[in-house]
Amino acid sequence: MPSSLRSKKILFGVCGSIAAFKAAGWVSALTKEGAEVTVVMTAAATRFVTPLTFAALSGRPVHSDMWEEGMAHIALPTATDAVLIAPTTAQAIARLAHGMADDLLSASVLACTVPVLVCPAMNSKMLAHPATQKNLATLRGFGYAVAEPECGRLACGEEGAGRLAEWDSVREMLLGLLTAQDMTGQQVLITAGPTREPLDPARFLSNRSSGKMGYALARTAKRRGAAVTLISGPVALEPPPGVTLVRVETALEMAEAVSKCAQTASIVVKAAAVADFRAAAFSAQKIKKTAVEPLLALAANPDILATLGRSRRADQLLIGFAAESGNHEAEGRRKLLAKKADLIVVNDILGSSTGFDVDTNQVTLITLDSTETLDLLSKEETADRIWDKAAALLRARQVKFNQQEAS
Ligand code: CTP
Repeated sequence: MPSSLRSKKILFGVCGSIAAFKAAGWVSALTKEGAEVTVVMTAAATRFVTPLTFAALSGRPVHSDMWEEGMAHIALPTATDAVLIAPTTAQAIARLAHGMADDLLSASVLACTVPVLVCPAMNSKMLAHPATQKNLATLRGFGYAVAEPECGRLACGEEGAGRLAEWDSVREMLLGLLTAQDMTGQQVLITAGPTREPLDPARFLSNRSSGKMGYALARTAKRRGAAVTLISGPVALEPPPGVTLVRVETALEMAEAVSKCAQTASIVVKAAAVADFRAAAFSAQKIKKTAVEPLLALAANPDILATLGRSRRADQLLIGFAAESGNHEAEGRRKLLAKKADLIVVNDILGSSTGFDVDTNQVTLITLDSTETLDLLSKEETADRIWDKAAALLRARQVKFNQQEAS
């Protein structure tokens, strides 16, 4: 499945810090995703990792000498979509903040007009020094994105802030810089994963949802500029960077969390596979097999989407999913009307590349007046197409509203 980084031209600056070894992994990851990575190293960086390593990982020549190649500092940033500098040392931050152009990397950044992402890594005292903080503020003022360094054990043996940020969050920031911010201002609420309905301290009822589709929706909405709250049942996924995560277990907990957060949301997406039933009574002691009839008494859980459909604000967009094993379109349309949603995304749970726990999906988008089946796509691409559809529905609603106002 194609990555959003495919064919993106990245100018990757590496500065002289022990964290330069991590940059080698990042260059490798970007190249594997199909990005065209050109590495520019400072002289100090070449003392930590050799240019040969970066040349081998990127499959391209590495640049480091200002004087070796004519107008490289002008040519390199011209043929690039974004600049990523990792690790960015205190020295490099100071150079960039003062517009210095005394090495190939700083001269190239000065000559570039594309987004710049700096990833500071240094000793915590150097990071906390007012000079570094002032320089970082200057870089933010230039419009550069800064991947906040993390706290932890530093190479110098000290504990504190200054560790290079993690790749997942830097990758997301980079993708954000390369993506149109067309969801800025949207407050998005997404539910994901299964719910777990306890029977006794050892057992529960649940389903096979992995949460991958909901998490892909959260990741892509954040990437497109939205403020995202993700209410998640128990899943084995890392939360997408920059998203507010609320963890729940049961359908009742999910219903409560949704009702707390839904008021302020402009778009609500119910991607969770909510258990329709819970045990009529929870047993505080483990149920002994000799002590029960093989019949389970169940109580119905509230339908969270239908509840939202009844109480929604007029300007809110409500998106539901339908997990189906037959009569996909008819069932999707029935749920659209019954739950008063604006859009239902129908999933085929029997398909080997569309069902539970896979990275791909093929969905049908059903609205009051349209039915559209998408191609088999990665879950992230599917998520982006759902956001495109949501944007179209919001635009159409605005046009209708304007017409009503005018008449
Ligand atoms: N849903 C919900 N609360 C429930 C059950 C479902 O909010 N108790 C939401 C799901 O998050 C999804 C939509 O309703 O957005 C459809 O869920 P689905 O499981 O496909 O359908 P159900 O309404 O549960 O009907 P059935 O299981 O009979 O197909």
